[in-house]
Amino acid sequence: MSENSFSWKNKIVAITGGGNGIGLAIALAAKDKGAKVSISDINETDLTKAKENHGFQTCLSDAGKEKDILNFINNTKDNLGEIDIFFANAGVARSGTLDTSDADWDISHRVNVMHHVWAARAVIPSMRKRQDCHFITTASAAGLLSEINSASYSLTKHAAVGFAEWLAIVYGKDDNDGNAVTISCLCPQGVNTAMTANMDNGGVAGIDGMLNPSDVAKVVIDTVSEGGFLILPHPVVGEYIKIKTSDYPRWLGGMRKLYAKFKGSY
Ligand SMILES: NC(=O)c1ccc[n+]([C@@H]2O[C@H](COP(=O)([O-])OP(=O)(O)OC[C@H]3O[C@@H](n4cnc5c(N)ncnc54)[C@H](O)[C@@H]3O)[C@@H](O)[C@H]2O)c1
Repeated sequence: MSENSFSWKNKIVAITGGGNGIGLAIALAAKDKGAKVSISDINETDLTKAKENHGFQTCLSDAGKEKDILNFINNTKDNLGEIDIFFANAGVARSGTLDTSDADWDISHRVNVMHHVWAARAVIPSMRKRQDCHFITTASAAGLLSEINSASYSLTKHAAVGFAEWLAIVYGKDDNDGNAVTISCLCPQGVNTAMTANMDNGGVAGIDGMLNPSDVAKVVIDTVSEGGFLILPHPVVGEYIKIKTSDYPRWLGGMRKLYAKFKGSY
């Protein structure tokens, strides 16, 4: 699909964690393209601001709870219509090595992984009955490479990439069970948001430069419009994956050097 053939005009776009950061930037970029936007968040103040300033449909909803995600989806359908484009974007980052608490493992698993599963289970069957639908997950470069200061973020973002790949394999093509749903997976390195605000220049995620959420949103809109799978706002990540898959010992050696440099820095 070329960018010219895909129109965002009047598409119903739903975004989890859309009250701030990357999710809000995607919401604004989609609205600029003519989409009708619905966002969820756990931060009520940000939701109120987004509604007042941008006219988005809003829903207080925790992406770590299936019933809240279903409530967000139903709220969007009731107020705007069937969802054409779903962004499973909310995420959490908890630093920690083997000392990571079960509570941190649990919230990381629910928000960074099960949220994608619950949303896909709820929206993809109806998307398969319609044309031009998209399901996009926000993983991270950490899901393709690693996040050296967080075992839970590394694991759950790898799981998010794996789930997006599986969705693309199973639902990414027309077949007897329905229409293709275009699946994309967003994998940025460092972005200037609340998530990285306490890290000096984004920590290890900032080594190739920090982007602003609006820069990320532009790449997201372009790649989704083209029907691309992997969304890489930092193109160098594509080179790192090649090194990783062509020479694991070399890649592990490089990552150990990074760990020695950035160990416990946030
Ligand atoms: N900032 C980065 O450097 C970076 C890099 C790679 C990937 N990501 C990913 O991008 C996504 C967005 O992160 P961001 O950087 O914009 O962070 P952010 O903290 O600025 O924004 C996240 C938004 O999600 C909301 N949120 C948090 N937990 C939620 C939950 N359980 N349910 C609903 N909403 C929730 C927050 O209130 C906030 O409005 C995340 O999945 C994150 O892992 C971020």
